[in-house]
Amino acid sequence: QAFSVAVLVGSLRKGSFNLKLAKALVALAPDNLACEFVQIGDLPLYDPDLEGDAVPSSWTRFRESIAKTSAVLFVTPEYNRSIPGGLKNALDVGSRPMGKSVWDGKPAAVATGSPGGIGGFGANHILRQSLVFLNVPAMQQPEAYIGGIADLFDADGNIAKPDTKTFLSKFMTAFGAWVALHAKQ
Ligand code: FNR
Repeated sequence: QAFSVAVLVGSLRKGSFNLKLAKALVALAPDNLACEFVQIGDLPLYDPDLEGDAVPSSWTRFRESIAKTSAVLFVTPEYNRSIPGGLKNALDVGSRPMGKSVWDGKPAAVATGSPGGIGGFGANHILRQSLVFLNVPAMQQPEAYIGGIADLFDADGNIAKPDTKTFLSKFMTAFGAWVALHAKQ
């Protein structure tokens, strides 16, 4: 059985290193994962007043995209030692209306990347803080803090460092096992 995986990228820019990382992870995914990118850049900021008659169509599109998948892969840069606002907004949009969270019980993995040496550690764990509350079982090991990400890819977007490629492959294999263990659909 192949499980569907929604891939959420925290960076919105076209040349994003984290988007490249996400594409590399998808390419390394085991056969039991079918990955699909879900966009977060068009979601209006979460405002409870818009629930009811004024729900933005992009919120509905996003909620339905997540609701129908078995699992979620988060790949994000760190902004000011936290996650980018757009990704937090996507978490918020998916978490409401109260009692209808699309995240509940959905297994996930978190990978963070940065040109710096800390590899987005702060963003990785702040994201995990929200995932605890949202009842998302997030794979604990292996952890993926990818530093030096600006030097990781060749001109074609392939991973230029064999050791990192091996590690990312192990990460996705572990995620495949994690999803098989925890997925409810
Ligand atoms: C950054 N960057 C950054 N990097 C980091 O390691 N820790 C941080 O706290 C921050 N803070 C930060 C804030 C803002 C607003 C921006 C725009 C950037 C640098 C960041 O890692 C770098 O720009 C990456 O290239 C962004 O990821 P993408 O867009 O390449 O995926």
